[in-house]
Amino acid sequence: MIAFRNVAITLGNRNVLNCVSLDIKKGEIFCIIGRSGAGKSVMIKQLVGLLHPNEGSIQFEGQEVTTMKESERIELRRKCGMVFQHATLFDSISCIENVVLPIRKHQGLRGAPAREKALQFMAQAGVAHLAERDPATLGPGLRKLVAIARTLTMQPHAILFDEPTTGLDPLAARKFDRLVKGPLAQSGITQVLVSHDVRSVFDVATRLAMLHEGKIRFIGTPQQLLQSRDPVLKSFIEGRPDLMPETEVST
Ligand SMILES: Nc1ncnc2c1ncn2[C@@H]1O[C@H](COP(=O)(O)OP(=O)(O)OP(=O)(O)O)[C@@H](O)[C@H]1O
Ligand SMILES: [Mg+2]
Repeated sequence: MIAFRNVAITLGNRNVLNCVSLDIKKGEIFCIIGRSGAGKSVMIKQLVGLLHPNEGSIQFEGQEVTTMKESERIELRRKCGMVFQHATLFDSISCIENVVLPIRKHQGLRGAPAREKALQFMAQAGVAHLAERDPATLGPGLRKLVAIARTLTMQPHAILFDEPTTGLDPLAARKFDRLVKGPLAQSGITQVLVSHDVRSVFDVATRLAMLHEGKIRFIGTPQQLLQSRDPVLKSFIEGRPDLMPETEVST
């Protein structure tokens, strides 16, 4: 469903990614991990055409993203929804009105049918009971779930989450994990999560990749990652800087 082939990108004067190749299959919960500045956000921004690699190919459902025209990119962003770290809801309208907006815009529904549809997506994200709440009264965890309901209205084939549990308390973070593993996985949607929440990643990922120094250091299942003897991986997942080899501590 998603393929990166020999992707390289330089930003500023930093060689952020260097010959990165990756395949993500339909229905996977694929996590990209790595230290701050490793290029995780850059990876997913390239996938939706917000950043352009200097070299290599990126495909979504067989279509080359790097050469898309603006009109094709708009369609790509419908099929490949992105949920940013800070859920940007309009605080001047209720939660359900936030979810109704894209339904009105893209599906042309109005009034009661639009609200009914919005409620279905809110139920899928586990927030139907918050329909009439003012988003400003919600904590970041619930705001994120409402933002996910809004993204689901586009009926995307894939959904990208950038640091979904950062800034959430542990209970809100586990609630998000349950949504990912439960209703979202059951709907068959492909999920790509960028995260340094090691606990969350081990709980939800079907496979994961670790970016390190511009390259993919590891790709495999959480079980394979746990069995790895690579000190760079061990240092990261165990949160132990003392295990990091001297030659790898540049960041
Ligand atoms: N638009 C940009 N222009 C210049 N440099 C950028 C741009 N976007 C990212 N970078 C640089 O690319 C590198 C990778 O950034 P990226 O945001 O992908 O890191 P990350 O792995 O997501 O880190 P974090 O865990 O802190 O979110 C960083 O050095 C960052 O400063
Ligand atoms: Mg990031």
